[in-house]
Amino acid sequence: MTEANTQPEVNIGLVGHVDHGKTTLVQALSGSWTDQHSEEMKRGISIRLGYADATFRRCPGVDEPECYTVDEECEDGSESEPIRTVSFVDAPGHETLMATMLSGASIMDGAVLVVSATEDVPQAQTEEHLMALDLIGIENIVIAQNKVDLVGRDRAVDNYEQIQEFVEGTVAEDAPIVPVSAQQEVNLDLLIDAIESEIPTPDRDPGESARMYAARSFDINRPGATAEDLKGGVVGGSLVSGELSVGDGLEIRPGREVDEEGQTEWRPLETTVRSLQAGNRDVDTAHPGGLLGVGTGLDPSLTKGDALAGQVAGEPGTLPPTREEFEMEVDLLERVVGKEDDESGESDIEEISTGEPLMLTVGTATTVGAVTSARDGECEVSLKRPVCAEEGAQIAINRRVGARWRLIGVGTLT
Ligand code: GTP
Repeated sequence: MTEANTQPEVNIGLVGHVDHGKTTLVQALSGSWTDQHSEEMKRGISIRLGYADATFRRCPGVDEPECYTVDEECEDGSESEPIRTVSFVDAPGHETLMATMLSGASIMDGAVLVVSATEDVPQAQTEEHLMALDLIGIENIVIAQNKVDLVGRDRAVDNYEQIQEFVEGTVAEDAPIVPVSAQQEVNLDLLIDAIESEIPTPDRDPGESARMYAARSFDINRPGATAEDLKGGVVGGSLVSGELSVGDGLEIRPGREVDEEGQTEWRPLETTVRSLQAGNRDVDTAHPGGLLGVGTGLDPSLTKGDALAGQVAGEPGTLPPTREEFEMEVDLLERVVGKEDDESGESDIEEISTGEPLMLTVGTATTVGAVTSARDGECEVSLKRPVCAEEGAQIAINRRVGARWRLIGVGTLT
């Protein structure tokens, strides 16, 4: 395989209810474990977005779908041929982590909805995640009916029918449902086949200006590194358009908050791309798809501990404006989805009212805003933390219902 096609070319979200097997499935397909954060390990759930790359391969001379594999060696001992490298974005299934799932949705080109065959359908976050895909407009979906090794045939068929009924009338209505066992690695060939036909690599124009959504940022220096050894800050995320090369200038917005004589303002950061890591290797040029690590000339204290997560990076002068307030057209859901029966709070969704706080996800940014004015189908918000976003941007709107933020609708920045 040439260097170019080992870089992942498409981002596929793994979504679904907690413990239904997203992480296990990513591991089975990619051989890597996305839960690498130590806190995640301790709590046993995916807290931040994890990316894992997988190269889908085909065994020559074998019929579809049995020809599909992620192994380099085929059953007959021959070598498989690489078809496409994809990047799985493993979104957390825990209900309190919905904001992370939503910020991941902005970089997903399609999604695999993982549904466990051992539980009734839908579980709370199965419903909430599917609704989020629907609202954000992610249409290329494959459903993995997981853990079929744990149920008998009748239960598997019942569960399959429950899934069919549940997705009726949603964006996933025509999505293939593939019974799998992530843990026992059963039917992964069928799943790859479905992903290959349902989630194509989007057509992209390499001439468009580079736009990267930051999901994370790091200080990669060891404590006590000397000044000469000190490496610049690293920004991790995904390009959603264009290409980025080593040596390119880079602007990052909103940037950083500067306090001058009691006045605070957000100033964009400007730097250059010093190194690029895509598909776990150093590259000179990166394109959309997968996790991109951009080594910059920024002071690492600016990138430490995900400080730039949610920001937007690109060629200087081409980024959308930084907004501390904005107006949006609002499309509300009819009822709160993903709520357990015993949870408190209203189930019907009331109109947005002036003064109420909302949690908004714009690109990979999550921010809280206060509604300063609300009319029929429109509202204005003033943000605690500004975002970099252009007109027409999609915004996931969450309201506090009972003890947590709930997805109540989608906004379009006007
Ligand atoms: P979060 O990341 O916390 O949302 O969970 P997840 O959906 O990623 O679930 P995870 O992959 O962590 O799996 C949860 C549990 O189910 C683990 O103990 C897995 O070993 C088990 N599991 C996952 N897939 C299968 C399967 O196909 N069969 C069986 N028997 N167990 C499975």
